[in-house]
Amino acid sequence: MTAAENRTETGVAGRPYHLLAIETSCDETSAAVVRNGREVLSNLVSSQIDTHRQFGGVVPEIASRKHVESITVILEEAIRASGVALHQIDAVAVTQGPGLVGALLVGVVAAKGLAMALDVPLIGTHHIAGHIYANRLIGEMVYPSMALVVSGGHTELVLLEREGSFRIVGRTRDDAVGEAYDKVARALKFPYPGGPHVDRLAQEAAEAIELPRAWLEPDSYDFSFSGLKSAVLAEINRAGMKGEALNIPALARGFQESVVDVVTGKAMKAAREFGVRQMLLCGGVAANRGLRDKLTRLCEEAGLPLLIPPLKLCTDNAAMIAAAADLKWRRGEFTPLDMKADPQMSLEAWSVKETEASRL
Ligand code: KG4
Ligand code: ZN
Repeated sequence: MTAAENRTETGVAGRPYHLLAIETSCDETSAAVVRNGREVLSNLVSSQIDTHRQFGGVVPEIASRKHVESITVILEEAIRASGVALHQIDAVAVTQGPGLVGALLVGVVAAKGLAMALDVPLIGTHHIAGHIYANRLIGEMVYPSMALVVSGGHTELVLLEREGSFRIVGRTRDDAVGEAYDKVARALKFPYPGGPHVDRLAQEAAEAIELPRAWLEPDSYDFSFSGLKSAVLAEINRAGMKGEALNIPALARGFQESVVDVVTGKAMKAAREFGVRQMLLCGGVAANRGLRDKLTRLCEEAGLPLLIPPLKLCTDNAAMIAAAADLKWRRGEFTPLDMKADPQMSLEAWSVKETEASRL
């Protein structure tokens, strides 16, 4: 019997199991080795931020080329640093989508090659499931739970009725939160990625310029940030035309307060409506001080447990991909070797298969 057929929740025929994971969906090349689905033995991330900064955002062609340059070294280093021998790797997980197609392809090709060479199963994994399951690397997840996913490419409220089941109850209709932060930061002449600069200014500001909040329809959990972004640009233009000095920290704080009010407000409302037992915050923007503080306070007031991964597990990394792939590993749901990178991959369709036992 192969290791894959012998797997259990606690190991492969009594011994621990190891997933090797690869993430290349955007501008980070990452590889990780995770033991028993939760113990991170290594998690290497090579960021391309310095390369893309000069262009003010991620250039897909350059991202793919950089992944090709880094992937072998990052993989070798992740395996070496984990202390695990190649023959102890039980499955290879890789981000299949969503993401930049050329970037995803680099990881997918490497993962297929490794799975074939090591003769172990391949697990094509959803990037957002990875962001959500980063939380399982730091704490116990309970169900039903509500995940607020905020990153440079995604803004979603995801209901997890059971382990590994994903239902999107709200999503952005235009920009992702991180994208809005980066665009506002750019208008204020900060380098890419601008989110952390706006966050810092907002913390330092003594006052806030009041900006609109996009609540949309009363029963909607969707988001929209394009109106807010336009309001910020209008403030900048207004000051410029009048020759007035712009209060940049007050504008940053006004922008941040509007974003944080709306995303936390909708997350708490959804948590109440769906009667969840836990809130999860994840994605690169989970690093935002204002967002973490407010969501922490609201969850405390509501008596709702909250998990937020540490910074290095919030931004793109391969350990989170292993954490999500573990859902499939434990159920024996593997991906054929002829799978393709899927830039538009559906999170809901990636949910684990519903079994008789899980439906009870
Ligand atoms: O999850 P992530 O690393 O990459 C994607 O999958 O998109 O998120 C990166 C995004 C960038 O837009 C960056 O500006 C934003 O997260 N970000 C922040 C903060 N730190 C990172 N946005 C607001 N405040 C922060 N402190
Ligand atoms: Zn991401």
